[in-house]
Amino acid sequence: MRIHLDRDACQGHNRCYLLAPELFDVDDEGYAVLLVEGDVPAGLEDKARLAADNCPEYAITLED
Ligand code: F3S
Repeated sequence: MRIHLDRDACQGHNRCYLLAPELFDVDDEGYAVLLVEGDVPAGLEDKARLAADNCPEYAITLED
């Protein structure tokens, strides 16, 4: 599974960071930073889905 963050779409709701801190951090301005490049590490797929489903701006997309 691959994960992508659209930084232009992110509005800093930070649900991704709260739900999946293994995958997301927050920058100094409150916007999301993706901590992994491309492939979601094994075992974190459910958290990736949770983060994508809960981003109000649809900034997180997944690809199987
Ligand atoms: Fe941004 Fe969505 Fe996370 S708006 S901070 S990617 S919940």
